Order: sequence, then C-alpha cells, then structure tokens
Amino acid sequence: MSDKLFIFDTTLRDGEQSPGASMTKEEKVRIAKALERMRVDVIEAGFPIASSGDFESVQAVAREIKESTVCGLARALDADIDRAGEALKPAASGRIHTFIATSPIHMERKLRMSPDEVVKQAVRAVERARRYTDDVEFSAEDAGRSEIDFLCRIFEAVIAAGATTINIPDTVGYNVPEQFGAMVGRAIEGTPNADKAVFSVHCHNDLGLAVANSLSAVINGARQVECTINGLGERAGNAALEEVVMAVRTRQDVFPCETGIDATRIVPSSRLVAGITGFSVQPNKAIVGANAFAHESGIHQDGVLKHRETYEIMRAEDVGWSANRMVLGKHSGRNAFRSRLQDLGVAFASEEELNAAFQRFKTLADKKHEIYDEDIQALVTETNLEHSVNERIKLVSLRVCSETGETPEANVTLWVNGEEKRGSAPGGGPVDAALKAIESIVDSQTELLLYSVNNITTGTDSQGEVTVRLERGGRIVNGQGADTDIVIASAKAYINALNKVVTAAERGHPQGPEL
Ligand code: KIV
Ligand code: ZN
Repeated sequence: MSDKLFIFDTTLRDGEQSPGASMTKEEKVRIAKALERMRVDVIEAGFPIASSGDFESVQAVAREIKESTVCGLARALDADIDRAGEALKPAASGRIHTFIATSPIHMERKLRMSPDEVVKQAVRAVERARRYTDDVEFSAEDAGRSEIDFLCRIFEAVIAAGATTINIPDTVGYNVPEQFGAMVGRAIEGTPNADKAVFSVHCHNDLGLAVANSLSAVINGARQVECTINGLGERAGNAALEEVVMAVRTRQDVFPCETGIDATRIVPSSRLVAGITGFSVQPNKAIVGANAFAHESGIHQDGVLKHRETYEIMRAEDVGWSANRMVLGKHSGRNAFRSRLQDLGVAFASEEELNAAFQRFKTLADKKHEIYDEDIQALVTETNLEHSVNERIKLVSLRVCSETGETPEANVTLWVNGEEKRGSAPGGGPVDAALKAIESIVDSQTELLLYSVNNITTGTDSQGEVTVRLERGGRIVNGQGADTDIVIASAKAYINALNKVVTAAERGHPQGPEL
C-alpha cells in the first residue's frame, strides 16, 4: 500500500527570502490560492513576528485558504509563537512551525546555549504552540550538521511535548543524497516515539542537491517534503516542488508513496510565481522550463513521432503545458470571457474587477486577433495589480520616436495624485527613453535592479511581459506590465513598481523622498 507524501510549500516564506523576491500581501494571497488549487497540503505563508507586513500576509492567507493547512513560522520564543498563533486565528486549519538550531556550531557560536538548554527551549516552544493548535511542527535548524544522537533526543522530547511533524532541514545545503537519506532513516529509527509524528525534510540547494537529498530522505521514510515553486529560496534556493512531485509520480517503482498534487496546475503556478517575483525560469529547467519538453535533435524528434515514450518520460500536458490554444477572439462576449476565466480557475473579487479585465480583453483583441490562455492570464494579472496597489501614478499616454541614426525620444503623460503631468526625455533606446521620461516627472530616487522581458506566447504579435525591480531605502519591489508593445509594457511595469514603492512608504517601510 502506498503512503501519502505530504507536500509543504514554503514559496511564501523561504521563497520570499530570495533577495529581491519580496511579495505584497495581495500577491501572496494569489499565490496561496494557486497552491491550494494545486492541492498542496501545507502552505507556509510567512514569519509573522518578522514584520507587520508578514503578520498581515499570514493572516490574509489564513482567512482565504480553506482546503490547505496554513502555517506560520516562529523561533522557539514565546513572542514569536504568540504572534504566529494570533496570525493563524482565522485559518480553517492552522499549523505553527517552530525551530531552534541543533548543530554544535549553531548552538555554541550563534545561540550560545548548551544542548540541555536547547532541548528545554524546544519543548517549551512546542508546548506553547499547542495552546493555539494541535498541529505543531518542530524543526531542528542545521540538522544536516547535527549529531544524530542529539537529534533523536530532541525529537523524542518535542514529540512527547506535542509536536506532530518533525522536520530535518539541511539548512546550509551541505549534505549529499546517500548520507542524508541514511541520516533521516537513523533519526526515525532512533526516536522511540517516531510513530507519533510525520518526519519531514527541508533541503537547500547550495550544492545543487536539494531535490536529490529530499528524494533520498523519502526513500528512507520521510513523508513530508518542504519545497518551493521553481526552487525559489534563500541563497541557491530550496528543493523545487515540481521536480519532487514529478519524480515521485514518474518513478512509482522507486517511491513507496504518492502526493495528492494536481500536477496539471504546476506550469500555471510556476508562471504565476515567476511573474510576481521577477525570477524567470531558465529554459532548461526541469518540468517548467520552456525547453523541458522540446526535442531539438532530429533523432529524438523522429523517435517521439514514432512512439512518444522513446524519449519522453512524462507528458507535457500532465504538468500543465498546453499547446497555445486560441480560446477567444474579438467577437467573444462577456459570458464567454467569464466562462474561460472559470476554466482557468480565476475568480475576481468584484464585478467591477471582472468588467475592468473584460475591457482590457476587448482592447487586446483589437490589436491581436488570437487570444490565448496565457494572454488572459496576463490581463488578469494586470487587473489584479491595478486593484492591489494604491494607484497614485497612472499612465495616460506614451509616445516614443525611434529612428535609425537618431537618439530615441519619449513623451509621456502621467496622472500623479489626481494631476496630469507631462515629461519627455531622450534615451539610449526607446525603453530607456520611456523610463527616463517617467522619471523626469516623478523623480523617484529608486535604483533599477532588474529589467526583464519575455514573450507571453509565440509570434511577433505576442504580448511582451516586463518585470522591473526597483530599490529605495532598502525596500525592494517588483513591478509587472504586459502589452503587445514592449515599450508600453515596460512603462506599465515601471509605474506598477513605483506605485508599490509609494504603498510601502505609506505602510511605514523605510522611506525615501515623497513621490
Ligand atoms: O533552512 C532552514 O533551516 C529553515 C528552517 C526555518 C526550517 O528554513
Ligand atoms: Zn530554509
């Protein structure tokens, strides 16, 4: 009989720890909904004590999500646990995840605590967390460099105190598969009350082994894997959810367990996370990279045409790759649009937002005859972005002249705090000129950390999807915009990021000058 392998997604917590991947509350809720739809078992929504923004995000996710367990992270400290318990109050099913370091180097150099003190604090934390919920996870931070006997000792104590999940993190990505799997097996065997908890792993990718280590742990008895969409996460990232899920599913001859994941939601979720964070997916990335199912060599193409399984171990459609399908056109009405949105799992908070998205669809259909699912997703993203930030700045019009041998020049009209303002600027190229023209009006004093553009579908009439990352006063934000004209898409993305900078300043994040 096959066991259940629980999938614990930490895109919103460890994933957000990737420098530059910070997300707004509304973006986190959108990703959480995509994870719920994918049937992720546990969504780690944040670290409530870290900031009021983190607290509010965990609370908002806890309010919205009904089918997955929502988890909040807490150090083994009373204040952290109370804050997590508070944030999770609205959850249909809430988990507190508390941790303390167990490796000699962390205990001696960072915590300056003896092993006995660490066990005592861990037990106290679990007991306190149990006041809020029956679902308590304990993590032994840097377990990958901890002594096995000490791990078994602390695990026995925290399970006795009420922990129901025991997590073994390879915090620094130091372990290698055979050794890590053996260690997990020994930890389970050596913990007398191991049968009262689910053993979990949380692997970082510093040596490129996070997925391999996680899978080795599963073979040795782990029944929860902590992972992130696209392998996002601190430093080199965490184990990639899509790779873990598809390895277990494809190699049922090796893994004695199954996940409950709806794999067809993998690619749409990957795109959503890439779009929101601005961390685009490399083309050769397993499962979700653009080339993951593309056969370039003639021998491979011939083989696949004759018998698909000659070179394909998974079907692209099983992980959510759909051939670009023309779903709607210029003459499609509001009902067809709404019904396509329902098929895509998109629900708007209000009729007003649906109407705004439909207007965008009509404008796009005038410019682009074939509208694909990806186009619809992009315009939904835009509508959500517009409603999720306080739009202090809006693009009214943009005109850019670009000619061989001439310096491009942009003229822009913006609406800033209810007033129409005009600006113009030359630039190295049309995009540069457009962004400089915007800056000639707002003087944001931000630094541009990233500018990236991807085509949403294929063909020269495809919409370009632009992500920009701006920094001001230590606060980093991402902005997105899509349009068939990439200069306009760039201006929209830049303005979206500027609005987020303003919103962050208003919420009391480190401030720069007022816009
Ligand atoms: O990497 C790590 O050890 C963590 C813990 C908080 C689980 O992220
Ligand atoms: Zn981690």
